[in-house]
Amino acid sequence: MRAVSPFTLGAALAAGIALAPHPSGAASADVPPEVVASREVVQKFSATLKEALQQAVQSGGPVNGITVCHDQAGQIATDLSQQLGMLVGRTSLKVRNPANAADNWELAVLKQFEARKAQGEPADKLEFFDVIDDDQGKKTFRYMKAIPTGALCLNCHGENISPEVDAKLKGLYPNDQARGFKEGDLRGAFTLAKPVQ
Ligand code: HEC
Repeated sequence: MRAVSPFTLGAALAAGIALAPHPSGAASADVPPEVVASREVVQKFSATLKEALQQAVQSGGPVNGITVCHDQAGQIATDLSQQLGMLVGRTSLKVRNPANAADNWELAVLKQFEARKAQGEPADKLEFFDVIDDDQGKKTFRYMKAIPTGALCLNCHGENISPEVDAKLKGLYPNDQARGFKEGDLRGAFTLAKPVQ
């Protein structure tokens, strides 16, 4: 099994775009500052969401948790985006909210994550970045980090969803595709975008 460090992959792609101030062949200490910042954003977003979700589920069960995901996930993402001047969101190959659907670049990265996981890379370490032209031709730094499915997630994304949760989800998300996941599956990814100055 070939272990590919995420940094090496990203760096290989970014080579020539002068994203990193250091020459190529760099060790992990030379991770570009955009990537370090992205990791921090993901950490913050993930922790804030998880905390809100755990509290809601503890106090009112999974049905109560849906409210957090429905009402707060987007708001937390928007707040962070404004604070950081960076677009922050979540996406997946199987989305619950169609507003979270992947664009072409995200789709390719999500498939790449599945392939790397199948080759044995740990799901919680999968990340990827690149600098690409956006729709308007503006250079944009983009970063994604995989989100593995944990036990808590199965209440709302697993194979056996309780009738109450099922009913509430159906009401809010008639086109829900984000079910049938097992623990350890890739649920999706955090996705970040920032214009390059
Ligand atoms: C209480 C129910 C509930 C639980 C538990 C839950 N989710 Fe969700 N999840 C939702 C809802 C509702 C949405 C749609 C949010 C929205 O409208 O943007 C969602 C959306 C998502 C999305 C965005 C992509 C999409 O499908 O629209 C990801 C990624 C995600 N959840 C991952 C997780 C992970 C990982 C866990 C476990 C740590 C988890 N969820 C636990 C209800 C839940």
